[in-house]
Amino acid sequence: MIASKIKTYFETNYAKNPLIVKSPGRINLIGEHTDYNLGYVLPASIEKAIYFAVSPNNTDKINIETFISSPEKITFDLQGSQTAFEAFWGNYFKAIIEILIEKKYPLKGFDCVFGGDIPIGSGLSSSAALCCGYLHALSKVCDKEIPKEEIALIAQKAEHRIGLNCGLMDQYAVLFGKRNNALFLDCKDLTHKYIPINLDGYSWALINSNIKHNLAVDSEYNKRRGSCEAIVNTVNEKRPGTSSLRDVTLDDLKNVQKEVDPIDYKRAHYVLQENNRVLKMMESLNSGDAKTAGNILLEGHWAMSKEFEITTEELDFLVENGQRLEGVMGSRMMGGGFGGCTINLIKTDKLKENLERMVKDYKDKTGIDAEVYHLKIDDGVHVME
Ligand code: GLA
Repeated sequence: MIASKIKTYFETNYAKNPLIVKSPGRINLIGEHTDYNLGYVLPASIEKAIYFAVSPNNTDKINIETFISSPEKITFDLQGSQTAFEAFWGNYFKAIIEILIEKKYPLKGFDCVFGGDIPIGSGLSSSAALCCGYLHALSKVCDKEIPKEEIALIAQKAEHRIGLNCGLMDQYAVLFGKRNNALFLDCKDLTHKYIPINLDGYSWALINSNIKHNLAVDSEYNKRRGSCEAIVNTVNEKRPGTSSLRDVTLDDLKNVQKEVDPIDYKRAHYVLQENNRVLKMMESLNSGDAKTAGNILLEGHWAMSKEFEITTEELDFLVENGQRLEGVMGSRMMGGGFGGCTINLIKTDKLKENLERMVKDYKDKTGIDAEVYHLKIDDGVHVME
């Protein structure tokens, strides 16, 4: 198990009895690119996670080490200066430490070793797990608890500094997730509630297309956000007080259609419909209606493909092929886009054969080996016993 490997490494190289924090990745049932538009999302935290071993070291140095991909160690001093680093993950810690210094948070020296099994660039939010888990662990060794709501905001700010103008879905899912439940989050007032996702006789599974994205260095994500904001600004000229797409109706959108960029129009239209899909998905989960749930996934996928234009050929193939298979209720690409996993709802008695078939057909078509992950919804960030 990864957690015990990390603990042993920590105890051999640093100190005995570190605190171990588990920080999960997340899936999202539906509600993509709705979070920064202050709409609805329905994510959940998963079993795959990043684990942090931490312990105060009574110095003025923060040492962070991983053997996750290639081994690397970075040392920060309490003023935020750091040793040179190669790994992309270093940027997140750098941003977080800078933000904490700006906030005058009482940082202390400590050692940290982390590692995990969330595939990077696969739409499972490894970066939110990294930032939120690190902040939670750090707040324990520095003896000043940071409330989860504030951790979410700091983690989001770190992403923004690195270049991804993301919303708060990932951070909330990673921090507030609950075993066997999805988290319905209203991104406008950040209230949330838990929705059991088990549909009797059906299973959720992920297929990783192994097309990797790096949203933080790819401006397509931010362009989508820009399109949505352009529409909000135009509607606001007609109806002052409109501050996000959450305040915009389909009628408002039609009223500005002639004056706005047709691409921006399509993007906003997608977001308004996607919010409705989240509400419809909740209803179908509550009533145990797998057929409707599957159709919502499909509708969402093809809207992301044609209107929001964030899928790839390979992901479209995975979804389209699934539509032809008996027992596959529906699938869609998950996360920020341009790669990553599909989430699939499949009849449990046809699960194995369908997944094998989907992986084989994908390999035949693209030459790429896809990976299957059976979905286990686990608790959000927490200290392990
Ligand atoms: C990324 C972002 C989230 C959200 C999703 C798309 O994961 O970090 O804030 O916008 O993409 O739903």
